[in-house]
Amino acid sequence: MKANQLTIKVSKSNDSSAKSVGVAVASNGTIAREIGMSRGQLEALGFEGKVGQTLILPNNKKQLTILVGIGESAKATADVLRTAAAALARASAKVVSLSTNLAVSGRGDRVANAQAVTEGLILATHRYDALKSDKNATSKLESVTLVAPGATNAAVARGSRRGETIADAVCLARDLANMPPAHLTAKMIAERAQKIGAETGVRVEVFNKDQLLAMGCGGIIGVNRGSVNPPRMVKISYRPGGARRGAKKSATKKSTAVKLPHLILVGKGVMYDSGGISLKPSNPDHAMMKADMSGAAAVLATMSTLKSLGCKNQVTAYMMCTDNLPSGSALAMGDVLTMRNGKTVEIHNTDAEGRLILADGLSLAAESKPDAIVDIATLTGACARALGPQMSGVMGNDQKFIDQVVAAAAATDEQTWQLPLERKYRTMIDSYIADMKNVGGTDAGAITAALFLDEFTAGRPWAHIDIAGPMWSDADAGWLQRGATAYGTRLLINLAENFKRR
Ligand code: BES
Ligand code: MN
Ligand code: ZN
Repeated sequence: MKANQLTIKVSKSNDSSAKSVGVAVASNGTIAREIGMSRGQLEALGFEGKVGQTLILPNNKKQLTILVGIGESAKATADVLRTAAAALARASAKVVSLSTNLAVSGRGDRVANAQAVTEGLILATHRYDALKSDKNATSKLESVTLVAPGATNAAVARGSRRGETIADAVCLARDLANMPPAHLTAKMIAERAQKIGAETGVRVEVFNKDQLLAMGCGGIIGVNRGSVNPPRMVKISYRPGGARRGAKKSATKKSTAVKLPHLILVGKGVMYDSGGISLKPSNPDHAMMKADMSGAAAVLATMSTLKSLGCKNQVTAYMMCTDNLPSGSALAMGDVLTMRNGKTVEIHNTDAEGRLILADGLSLAAESKPDAIVDIATLTGACARALGPQMSGVMGNDQKFIDQVVAAAAATDEQTWQLPLERKYRTMIDSYIADMKNVGGTDAGAITAALFLDEFTAGRPWAHIDIAGPMWSDADAGWLQRGATAYGTRLLINLAENFKRR
């Protein structure tokens, strides 16, 4: 099931029936003859061809000609085209159809460029409108033809198909994160994951409260104590070629001796974070704490693409899902939890709940001895304070693997910045009664949270992505829409596809 509203076609020539024609214009060089204006005339109208600038002109075929800037032609990379495509989609919001040469206007790899253009178009048109009466309020745009003449056609078609798969996954993750707490409980997201798994060819196993108790997952059970909604852990498994563990094998074909590179993703799935007994102050901004499951959503969305993209690595995911609510049965300060790996944690703040549920997920991940583990979590306000909404923070115990995460972030324009996993700060989470406490002091909050997580990785190569900053956008801007961003989905897909074992 598609999560976005656009139909994207690739054609060798302009679609003359399209209601608008998008023409890429660089800030240098000659202006295409079809525009019928000189650079001086365009500049007099305030259009210089800067990245994402648009100018709407009527043409004599009763279409709109929409010029979209791509900046200096030598620098028109996939990232530039993604941004330009988003601007073009926004400028086309009042028409139903668009035909554009944007996908063949840039520099470098055509497949990557077409993928980026498709992503930009879909991401800037998508809106979580399930709860709106008027579904067409934001954009009427329904179909886009990417014009790719001659020899460019095959590469553009391939890139566009990849872009659709990836952008649709981002839309899915945004929808999930935008859903109100009562519309998406832990039980419901697990059911949704089962459905998505069946549709996209990945194996999904759901673990309920009794099973989590039996497994000794004290972190997720502890955080869930205050809620009437039971927790769920969702395990999702992907193997290339669709080979599933337990699937019937032909008698002649022995199980393969080659072990594929294996990456495990762990996502924080706090369906709503009230803070628990350490209740957050009453502030309408905290409505966004419904999106405290953005890590789990990104992980699910990522898994949904792997078969379709033909990912060559083995990838497993754990979504750790519960809400964090206060009640008579809720976790209290001073309580001590025993986690899946046996370590004990003294609770000093029930609002530091994400690390408690991730701890169990990381422990389980480490038990299967993968080549690397990456967790993604809306973990600390401290990280958001430090880095702002444009990038996540990344920390970990293995520089080579962190470098792979940083490379995936750079390749997808989902920026990240490495913070140090400073072991000298480990004493900040010392507890006099247990192995550690769940918060440090006032300083270095993103780092002490990561040091806490490190206790559950059993030394496996691991990176932690703190997305508290970029999980949310206050405005429609570029390829972001107001609300949950699904940040990390494209990054994780890129990481899963390109992951290399050391
Ligand atoms: N989910 C929040 C972190 C968060 C804050 C995400 C803002 C997105 C935007 C997390 O569970 C939390 O409450 N963290 C506390 C930790 C503190 C108690 C050590 C925080 O950052 O204040
Ligand atoms: Mn919290
Ligand atoms: Zn939280």
